[in-house]
Amino acid sequence: MRMILLGPPGAGKGTQAANLSIALKIPHISTGDIFRANIKEGTPLGVLAKTYIDAGKLVPDDVTIGIVEKRLENKDCVNGFLMDGFPRTIPQAEKFDAMLEKMGRSVDLVINIEVPDDLIVKRMSGRRMCSCGRTYHVDNNPPQKEGICDACGNKLYIREDDREETVKERLKTYHQQTSPLIDYYKKKGILVNVDGTKSIDDTSREILELIKNHA
Ligand code: AP5
Repeated sequence: MRMILLGPPGAGKGTQAANLSIALKIPHISTGDIFRANIKEGTPLGVLAKTYIDAGKLVPDDVTIGIVEKRLENKDCVNGFLMDGFPRTIPQAEKFDAMLEKMGRSVDLVINIEVPDDLIVKRMSGRRMCSCGRTYHVDNNPPQKEGICDACGNKLYIREDDREETVKERLKTYHQQTSPLIDYYKKKGILVNVDGTKSIDDTSREILELIKNHA
């Protein structure tokens, strides 16, 4: 299955993708995670991406598309993938369609996780991250031991772009550049909406049910 998780920053895309990737046995591809790994390693891509991410803006389309194109060449994508945070603009979506068409493939399903802006600001302020890709929340999804990842034992950290002013800028960017994708995929008849204000487990159950019905 080739799926996209769509939704504003903090909607729960990464949280749901981690669960779904295990349940569906397909790779979770997060362009945000790829950029953060490059920032950590200090690569030229990381240096470039950091200037945009810290300002709450999108990394330029040509850079992001190139990364995804390369990632899709990996063998683990032959049975499908779960895109998290890509595409994020209409040009990215069009390029992605063309890329898949060249491989004789297409997107099967787009899950749009809906969460209002005020709840997002609250969620971001309590988010804690691990370099292994796991995401926690101090109240809604705490680790067993405070500040430590359950999966790998590393120390959790706060994302720099989770500062309130940056979150507001990211939301603005989302409404201007990413939300038009809802109509783009609705017109193709492959978009389903999910209420992302429910608990993490309830949202996972709803998504898995939708996938079952779709299949
Ligand atoms: P990226 O990492 O993709 O960030 P994002 O889309 O803004 O999304 P987030 O990771 O912030 O949130 P999420 O929806 O995954 O929520 P999460 O599960 O963590 O991108 C970062 C930056 O990279 C972008 O701003 C941009 O600059 C750049 N970039 C990335 N992709 C790009 C692209 N394609 N083109 C150009 N630039 C790109 O959940 C949030 C919190 O809420 C967590 O603490 C979690 O525990 C909690 N939570 C989750 N679900 C629930 C629930 N149901 N109830 C209660 N709490 C919950």
